[in-house]
Amino acid sequence: MTKLLILNGPNLNRLGKREPDIYGKSSLKDLEEELRSNFAEQLELSFKQSNWEGQLIDWIHEAEEKYEGIVFNPGAFTHYSYALRDAIASISIPVVEVHISNVHAREMFRSESVIAPVCVGQISGFGFDGYKMGLTYFLKRSG
Ligand code: DQA
Repeated sequence: MTKLLILNGPNLNRLGKREPDIYGKSSLKDLEEELRSNFAEQLELSFKQSNWEGQLIDWIHEAEEKYEGIVFNPGAFTHYSYALRDAIASISIPVVEVHISNVHAREMFRSESVIAPVCVGQISGFGFDGYKMGLTYFLKRSG
């Protein structure tokens, strides 16, 4: 079975409490349950979240040996972390960038992603469904 990492960056542990008008009322745990119940029979999923850039970088490096791909919401690091970008560029497994909100319809600084150029693609604005779209990409890829 295809093994994938669902990686969430800073402040995403606050989902459900954090700006619910933008990010919704469901928690990170709810997201995990939703994805597990939708994909349990087809994909082996691992979930990790950190508020620390270095921790995310270490997990990205380690992921190359453990998983066939990553669905990654880098949170605000999306917009300025060259270190995360370089970490993704340094591994050979594909990464899909996901955002719950439409980053192109918000503040100007959110419309730039320094991560997107080293990803397969970016999914933005579809709420939790964006993670499902990312997983569907990997499902189709694995045939
Ligand atoms: C986010 C969008 C980012 O701009 C923001 O900093 C987040 C969440 C999203 O999922 O919509 O933390 O990545």
